[in-house]
Amino acid sequence: MAVTETIDNTGHPTDASLQIAADGRLRHLLTLRDLDRQIITGLFDQAETFLGEPGQPGTRRGTLRGKTVANLFFEPSTRTRASFELAAKRLGADVLNLDVNKSSQQKGESVLDMVCNLQAMQVDVFVLRTAETGVPALVARHVAGHVSVLSAGESHVSHPTQGLLDAFTIRRRLGRIAGLTIAIVGDVAHSRVARSAAEVLLNMDAAEVRLVSPESLAPEPGTVPPGARILHDIEEGLRGADVVMALRIQKERIANPDGIPGTAQYFADYGVTCERMKLAAKNAIVMHPGPLNRGVEIESRLVDGPQSAIVEQVRNGVAVRMAVLSAVCRSSS
Ligand code: NCD
Repeated sequence: MAVTETIDNTGHPTDASLQIAADGRLRHLLTLRDLDRQIITGLFDQAETFLGEPGQPGTRRGTLRGKTVANLFFEPSTRTRASFELAAKRLGADVLNLDVNKSSQQKGESVLDMVCNLQAMQVDVFVLRTAETGVPALVARHVAGHVSVLSAGESHVSHPTQGLLDAFTIRRRLGRIAGLTIAIVGDVAHSRVARSAAEVLLNMDAAEVRLVSPESLAPEPGTVPPGARILHDIEEGLRGADVVMALRIQKERIANPDGIPGTAQYFADYGVTCERMKLAAKNAIVMHPGPLNRGVEIESRLVDGPQSAIVEQVRNGVAVRMAVLSAVCRSSS
């Protein structure tokens, strides 16, 4: 494994073909852009089999028995990391959780050297969350043939398992994705969730994906999937929408907060509220990837109300990640 290659942090999109094995199966999961629709529906159908009943013990399988999954998180995470850990354990894998902020990084070790060492300890799947763009693809290009890399969030560009679980949740709640209008409201500029969700939803023939934000939190047009509409008017954004997804303001990614609205102002201007939801379609659902801030980007009552699919997103996330882990381990065994 070469250790000298520099990381592509230019924001260039990851080559989607890198994630497909020669036999057409999913080998790595780095981006949802151009991901074959059959692979996506296959993952959804498999995830259905892992769901189980709420309140019952989680579904267990032995698909990953003998495999080792390493969670390497270079950025803080609670939900995504727990979700990947439970998914791997429920499939019978050994799981290694490394909080890389606190270990080798501080000693200056490169990501590739760290991965090389873990590979020597027979890790089969790397789950990576990185603040820099290009790192998951870089690692994927260097691992051994039987090893898979899953992105658990790459800077502001990609969060493929989140996009999948969002699309899966919509499919379960509304019965389809094709023809729906989805409004994603909030700090789109810094959101890998918005980008991955827009990619998969447009790929699955959503009628429209609207990215709604104040001007100061709007994405550069070239950084969102072609076909997504960038809007600034919340009422126009919510009108007739079948799905409304709220996003928090990612303060940790904002170096200069000048021009970013304060909390109360933001809620007044862009908060997803019960009142504003009256503009949406009659059976519209409300989503949020978490962590959520009640009374800032979303009204508290809406979070706990009947339109909310937020807890289902979390529950579905484990099943979707189990499906992804099963798929890549099948392609490598
Ligand atoms: C998101 C993330 O990390 O990109 N959270 C998540 O994965 N559930 C969104 C966020 O941090 O706001």
